[in-house]
Amino acid sequence: MAAIHLLINDHPHDVDVAPDTPLLWVLRDNLNLTGTKYGCGMGLCGSCTVHLDGEAVRACQTPVSSVGTKKITTIEGLSPNSSHPVQLAWIAEQVPQCGYCQSGQVMAAAALLARTPHPTDDQIDSAMVGNLCRCGVYQRIRRAIHRAAKGA
Ligand code: FES
Ligand code: FES
Repeated sequence: MAAIHLLINDHPHDVDVAPDTPLLWVLRDNLNLTGTKYGCGMGLCGSCTVHLDGEAVRACQTPVSSVGTKKITTIEGLSPNSSHPVQLAWIAEQVPQCGYCQSGQVMAAAALLARTPHPTDDQIDSAMVGNLCRCGVYQRIRRAIHRAAKGA
């Protein structure tokens, strides 16, 4: 195995893992970045959502060798002090219930707002449809995304 170089939350890392290791396991098991959650491991729930060059991807479906030079951002690196507009809106709207899905929800919402700063309900629904919440807080998620879009 050769070391694989990764840029995660603006910090370089070398990991010695098999090339087909899912990025999710590298983040959680090798680098202790446990904010990214394991839900289904099959690309179906979105709880493992991270950004690759700003685009939301499923870390459980991303072989670490496929990342290349793309910048990885996890929930730990979204903002230096939890001050990203999505995080502030999440707090203001008291979105989480159990919280398990929420890292993925926040990362998906942040990616949506980066490419569509003022999304409609339909745009929110289609961007977030792959992020499941067993607690069913979808209405609060939608409200928080609108709040973040207003910068409030
Ligand atoms: S754990 Fe990756 S999509 Fe469910
Ligand atoms: S807040 Fe519990 S699964 Fe979403």
